[in-house]
Amino acid sequence: MKTIIITGGAGFIGSHVVRLFVTKYPDYHIINLDALTYAGNLANLTDIENEPNYTFVRGDITDAAFLAELFGKYQPEGVIHLAAESHVDRSITDPMSFVMTNVVGTVNLLNAAKKSWLDSESGFDGKRFYHVSTDEVYGSLHNPDEFFTEETAYDPQSPYSASKAASDHFVRAYGNTYKMPVVLSNCSNNYGPNHFPEKLIPLMIHNIQQNKPLPVYGKGENVRDWLFVVDHARAIDTVFHKGKQGETYNIGGFNEWKNIDIVHLLCRVMDEKLGRPAGTSSQLITYVTDRAGHDLRYAIDANKIMNELGWEPSLQFEEGLNKTVDWFLANQEWLNNVTSGAYQGYYQDMYANR
Ligand code: NAD
Ligand code: TYD
Repeated sequence: MKTIIITGGAGFIGSHVVRLFVTKYPDYHIINLDALTYAGNLANLTDIENEPNYTFVRGDITDAAFLAELFGKYQPEGVIHLAAESHVDRSITDPMSFVMTNVVGTVNLLNAAKKSWLDSESGFDGKRFYHVSTDEVYGSLHNPDEFFTEETAYDPQSPYSASKAASDHFVRAYGNTYKMPVVLSNCSNNYGPNHFPEKLIPLMIHNIQQNKPLPVYGKGENVRDWLFVVDHARAIDTVFHKGKQGETYNIGGFNEWKNIDIVHLLCRVMDEKLGRPAGTSSQLITYVTDRAGHDLRYAIDANKIMNELGWEPSLQFEEGLNKTVDWFLANQEWLNNVTSGAYQGYYQDMYANR
């Protein structure tokens, strides 16, 4: 049986990756390592929590001694690293927690994996350290014809993207210096079930439902490329199993939207689902002060993973958005627990006044 540690498996994307691996690969032992910060909760995984090939371990990747013990105990062949502080707005008010988890935590994990693998008989043979990153490391696009490719120079603009860029550099440096078997991917904005309602799409779904203001930063002209979270999980499966050692793969949906257009679309979809007269929810749109240093546009060229590894997105955006709204409307308890702080108690403090 192959043992794989997935970090951040109780979070949004991590929970979809854990579910996919636990159900698709019964001969893998999946260890979900997560600190259960405000963003992680085990209610995301109730459907698979009793599977025999699944183990949850609560722990913090900033704790090197804990990681040494964990790697000694489980001797994993693979690491899929998703644990991170992931919200740009929080990185603006509290950059240091991003440095700790995203940079120090990643280097701790690299050290723990390197030592455990070099101490094993087979060394690095058959091992893989997969670092999951973001397109935000490339900075902001201003020319409409431009896309981020794997060759685009890093130019991070927020404390979040700077911390992810630093972690990517460390992973590549360990691949180069110690010949560690690493692989990386940089993905565009995800959306879907279990998305924490501090990010654009789930926040808007939540606020539309509650008849609360819909805070659009600046003029709402910023552009993001959106990918359904299950398609990202499928891409992670593809890169983990088929990606070439030392390579980076950009993942995206070729699906660019201005923020304001997404908010209007959500208002239309939800007016219909909630039986409200057309045009009701869009009256909640409220333009608020722009995010400091707000990146204008992200757009991914995903041709490498599509052509070399055969991955492609499975869902059109409208279909994915419909599924997402349906999931949130059907999972009120999850949403109430997250927004009331019943899971962790953090959300309310920062977002109560929105
Ligand atoms: P998330 O914030 O929903 O989840 C992060 C998880 O990491 C949580 O379960 C949290 O408890 C855990 N965690 C945080 N600090 C930890 C620590 N010190 N030790 C152990 N666990 C810790 O994040 P997400 O949106 O699911 O993103 C997952 C990964 O994918 C991140 O690395 C992020 O940079 C990357 N990514 C996200 C997106 C996106 O649109 N959300 C896009 C591309 C890449
Ligand atoms: P977000 O979901 O925070 O993802 P990221 O900043 O990592 O792309 O934000 C997506 C876009 O939506 C971004 O341009 C900022 C904007 N935004 C708003 O206009 N209002 C909001 O309340 C939030 C959370 C985001």
